[in-house]
Amino acid sequence: MRTRTQVGIVGAGPAGLLLAHLLALRGIDSVQVESRSREYCEARQRAGVLEDGSVALLREAGVAGRLDRQGIEHGGIYLQFGGERRHIDFRALTGRAVTVYAQTEVVKDLIARRLADAGPGAIQFSVTGTVVDDLDTDRPVLRYTSEDGVRYEVACDAIAGCDGFRGICRPAIPPELRSATARDYPYAWLGILADVPPSTDELIYAWHPRGFALHSLRSHTVSRLYLQVSPDEDIAGWPDERIWAELSERLELPGWTLRPGPVLEKGITGMRSFVSAPMRYGRLFLAGDAAHIVPPTGAKGLNLALADVAHLAPALDSLCRGDQKLAEAYSAACLERVWRSTHFSWWMTTMLHITPGADEMERQLQLAQLRYVAASRAAATSLAENYTGYPSPSTA
Ligand code: FAD
Ligand code: DHB
Repeated sequence: MRTRTQVGIVGAGPAGLLLAHLLALRGIDSVQVESRSREYCEARQRAGVLEDGSVALLREAGVAGRLDRQGIEHGGIYLQFGGERRHIDFRALTGRAVTVYAQTEVVKDLIARRLADAGPGAIQFSVTGTVVDDLDTDRPVLRYTSEDGVRYEVACDAIAGCDGFRGICRPAIPPELRSATARDYPYAWLGILADVPPSTDELIYAWHPRGFALHSLRSHTVSRLYLQVSPDEDIAGWPDERIWAELSERLELPGWTLRPGPVLEKGITGMRSFVSAPMRYGRLFLAGDAAHIVPPTGAKGLNLALADVAHLAPALDSLCRGDQKLAEAYSAACLERVWRSTHFSWWMTTMLHITPGADEMERQLQLAQLRYVAASRAAATSLAENYTGYPSPSTA
């Protein structure tokens, strides 16, 4: 079946969903395809922290009703090391805060809004065989097979590759026309979601000789915690009691106890820095994890994905009206923030994780840096400025 739209969007993660909505606000049509089911997309546990600018962006786009009611503002974080827990006060240092609101909820809000605005077919879930083609022409095409088995060919003005790190869009760019800059880290995160009120009022990032630990949360009644483990660790070797014991040890502080509770979900995630450039080839534009990955320490991935599409929506709007200028500036505009976030995430990661085989020199350098960040207003301000984020382009 042949159809026609202005923008073909591959992927219904945060990047693709917000893009579809921002384009609709500008009167631009899109067809959006997603290989997973709606239920899967809405349940996939990932990020939890929104920068100040991401919240502003979602508000400006009119999709922050539930975020404003249920998001939890945090004015800082704790850094823990060498038996101390030190507060970094973002509000005092930068006048800004972050908001704890799960990616699952951002995704649910955006899916609900798209389907309400554009009807039940607006997002084609559970598609197979997605292909993007003719990208170096004025009429790129998106092909897919819908859940009920119909093969579609959609002629587009442009295609947005919002299909995550393992998607098909980035590989559709000829290899000689893109560069990939990557680093894998010799550790991973074991994450749990637990049905227990958080034992802390703000996130705790803990350096510990046995490895990094992070206490985060999803709500006043659900906690999210992470442990540094080896990248080849088998989750089967981590019964709940072992996870709680290890978290208690790494987060231990005299006079404070970690409240354990039923584990709702657990999984292991590898850690990588990766940037593919440029983020455009002809009429294909990459956004979010399709173009770049950061290690999770510092909570940047979701925020980068949202910031990319805040640039992309006006660029595609102009392109559809025959003006190429913003489309030509898109990749460079995004990559500046991407590299800033890539540096910050690498810095937080290497300051807080224990490298296997690390010597005493490396440990002492990490501790010296942590003491400096906790003690120096200048160093703490730098962390706070990066963590709370960078200005996002307006959606107007
Ligand atoms: P994705 O969310 O990956 O969405 C891409 C979509 O495309 C998926 O739904 C996929 O199914 C679909 N797709 C793939 N291939 C195809 C195809 N061929 N056809 C159709 N559809 C396709 N970031 C933060 O900012 N803060 C945090 O606190 C944070 N914590 C994290 C914790 C963990 C454990 C993990 C794993 C990540 C974390 N991140 C965090 C990163 C964040 O989750 C990602 O950066 C974010 O999901 C990127 O959004 P996206 O829309 O670009 O990609
Ligand atoms: C969460 C994830 C992060 O990577 C981080 O730095 C802070 C919080 C989270 O999932 O809650």
